[in-house]
Amino acid sequence: MDKVVIFDTTMRDGEQAPGATMNREDKLKMGHQLERLGADIIEAGFAANSDAEVEAIAAVAAEIRTPVICSLARTVARDVDEAWRSLKGAARPRIHVFTSSSDLHLAHMLRKSRQEVLDSAVAAIIRAKGYTPDVEFSPQDATRSDVEFLIDLYTAAIEAGATTINVPDTVGYAIPEEFEGLIRRLLTQVKDSGKAVWSVHCHNDLGLAVANSLAAIRGGARQIEVCVNGIGERAGNAALEEVVMAIHTRKDFLGVEHGLDTTQITRTSRLFTDITGIGVQVNKAIVGANAFRHESGVHQDGVIKERLTYEIMDPRDIGLSGNILHLGKTSGRAGFRAHLTQMGYSVTEEEFTKAWNAFRDLVGKKKYVDDRDVEALIAEEMRSVDEQYVLEQIQVSCGEPGIPTASVKIKAPDGAELVEAAVGDGPVDAVYKAITAAVGIENHLEEFSVKSITENTEAQGEVTIRIKVEGRTYTGRGVSTDIIVASAKAYLNALNRKLADQADRQVVSLSAPP
Ligand code: KIV
Ligand code: ZN
Repeated sequence: MDKVVIFDTTMRDGEQAPGATMNREDKLKMGHQLERLGADIIEAGFAANSDAEVEAIAAVAAEIRTPVICSLARTVARDVDEAWRSLKGAARPRIHVFTSSSDLHLAHMLRKSRQEVLDSAVAAIIRAKGYTPDVEFSPQDATRSDVEFLIDLYTAAIEAGATTINVPDTVGYAIPEEFEGLIRRLLTQVKDSGKAVWSVHCHNDLGLAVANSLAAIRGGARQIEVCVNGIGERAGNAALEEVVMAIHTRKDFLGVEHGLDTTQITRTSRLFTDITGIGVQVNKAIVGANAFRHESGVHQDGVIKERLTYEIMDPRDIGLSGNILHLGKTSGRAGFRAHLTQMGYSVTEEEFTKAWNAFRDLVGKKKYVDDRDVEALIAEEMRSVDEQYVLEQIQVSCGEPGIPTASVKIKAPDGAELVEAAVGDGPVDAVYKAITAAVGIENHLEEFSVKSITENTEAQGEVTIRIKVEGRTYTGRGVSTDIIVASAKAYLNALNRKLADQADRQVVSLSAPP
């Protein structure tokens, strides 16, 4: 059976989603988890974006040695050179060169003729081949392009040495049968098509990214580009977990297999949420909270009698243990360590001590602690953002009648203790005003949500917020048994993320002409 190569672009296309920005440490964490998951290729970023991006890709390339590490470049010499600068320490480097092929993109974005696009693609591929034998080529908007031109372009790309040929459905326009037909036609009519691996990259604007990816497999594609939780530009990219579990569950029909350890899927999904604060909807396939829950009596009855009546996948196959272990005050250090290992965490001694202290603190406030609490606690303690401002004290008074008032004490990066108080429309508003006065970063609060991690009233509350500062979105998360404290932590986390965002980041839009 043929193997389909899974190309993860969470750290590049996924990162283009608002609020999904990842710094160097975030990318390292995500990269290690993707390696544990067994992703074949990790696209770690777009090197020409900034020096910070080159450094982040280089760090991933230095530490993550099993998968191929890929860096994106437009068809200009500087981009290809920057991609190589980011990759030269990689065990298995790939340069991914892209341009556009639709007349719409050529006329309005690139302002180039078809011949100029073809020539620049060939020149960039040849330059990239000078650095590494593994070169991928993508023409954006392939699905709205003249197929005859696509055939010429792909033929020239293979002749220039591209070893992977990607067909991007950049705007999510394709329909599965049509897309399968396109892949078949390209495989038949592009000269020497067999010399390259055929890949697809599908966006989800019509909700068809996964369906199109699977149709492309039927048409002959053997690399699928995906993002964790389906994150990505606009409506996102094909979801990694959906594509992989579809191949896993329906290899009888698709006739291909994958090389991933599916039991790492849940952990990978949660790590992405922990890093970015972007969660998944409850009914999301595979990784949504309801994906394996049976509510109706008829369904419950069926599943109790025979799981297969209503379950096409075993939840354990995606890493859901199914049994939630309860920890409490009497749990010892060794038991807690063993439990973390059983849950799949590998933590350093320093991280373990932080997690243990937080756990002891939590069992003092909450009678039973289960896996969901432990996951939240680990995410909270291991948050990779450099916490420049640290919340030391918070006090709130509110009620009816009364004026909601908050005072905060925050430790600044220079060690100074900043004390501020404010009144607001409610306790959270008062806290945010006091923190804003202390930190001094004006911003616009775009989203605030609070959810309970477990069921009962003593449960931990998890607050996720999004703020906009100078046109960029930052997310923050905070967890506490007190939701006002969780709100303050989430807000400070977002502000710290803003501060950690490299000042020299000079964003180059993927749509900008080179
Ligand atoms: O959507 C797209 O076309 C892309 C390319 C750079 C592959 O992300
Ligand atoms: Zn894309």
